[in-house]
Amino acid sequence: MTDEPFGLAHDEAGEGFPVVLLHGFPHDHTLWAAQMAGLEGHCRVIAPDLRGFGGSVAAPPFTIDRYADDVVALMDRLGIEKAVIGGLSMGGYIAFSMWRRHRARFRGLMLIDTKAGPDNDEAKKRREQQIEVVRSEGVAVLAPRLVEASVSARTRERHPDVVERLLAMMTRQPAEGVIGALQAMIRRADSTPTLKTIDVPTLIIVGAEDVPTPVEDARKMHDAIAGSTLEIIEGAGHLSNLERPAAVNHVMSEFIGRLIYA
Ligand code: MLT
Repeated sequence: MTDEPFGLAHDEAGEGFPVVLLHGFPHDHTLWAAQMAGLEGHCRVIAPDLRGFGGSVAAPPFTIDRYADDVVALMDRLGIEKAVIGGLSMGGYIAFSMWRRHRARFRGLMLIDTKAGPDNDEAKKRREQQIEVVRSEGVAVLAPRLVEASVSARTRERHPDVVERLLAMMTRQPAEGVIGALQAMIRRADSTPTLKTIDVPTLIIVGAEDVPTPVEDARKMHDAIAGSTLEIIEGAGHLSNLERPAAVNHVMSEFIGRLIYA
């Protein structure tokens, strides 16, 4: 067990202007493979495995704030003072915590298929049940149930390869990390009051068919973050970057390009 932020495993591509991409639950850095390939010509893309996922050790404490501190420790290790921080879903919850704790490290913010509000009682109960499923039956039993809510009908019909890759990614995550993240999300703070404090350029991306974090949540963030841009990705569900990678790369590279040449 370590009580300090520690060395996250990560992948990186490209050079120059740094962009850090935080995966969701229960994913690893490979969630961003298409963004690494699509953006590496413009900037330096860094995709960590969060504590307890992919190649990073599954050691407590598991809290959203600790995940945030781990990412900043990685930026320190890589000599990155400021970056555009992008977070998808749980990665977005972590980006809000990073903003509260380390806002000087932001050059910009990308909120992808995420929301600011905390879990309600029903969501907490569902997560407790998911923890029980992982404890008694394993991640392999939970993963297909999560995949179902993650992608649009279009993706299921037209891109079974994407669904298969997602299922494999979710299934290979260690039980300790998955349980730790579920507990961290149950306990997470309400980031709604944080929204009005965000004063860096912000891009909000949401799949038009996102069920867990719908367009309505993205609009609320857009209304509360002054000067933010909202992009709705047609045909995508909760994992817009995986489902419509070219569309997401396009809006991300325009946003990043404006910051590079500002
Ligand atoms: C994710 O994709 O990270 C999850 O949907 C987050 C959550 O369960 O709230």
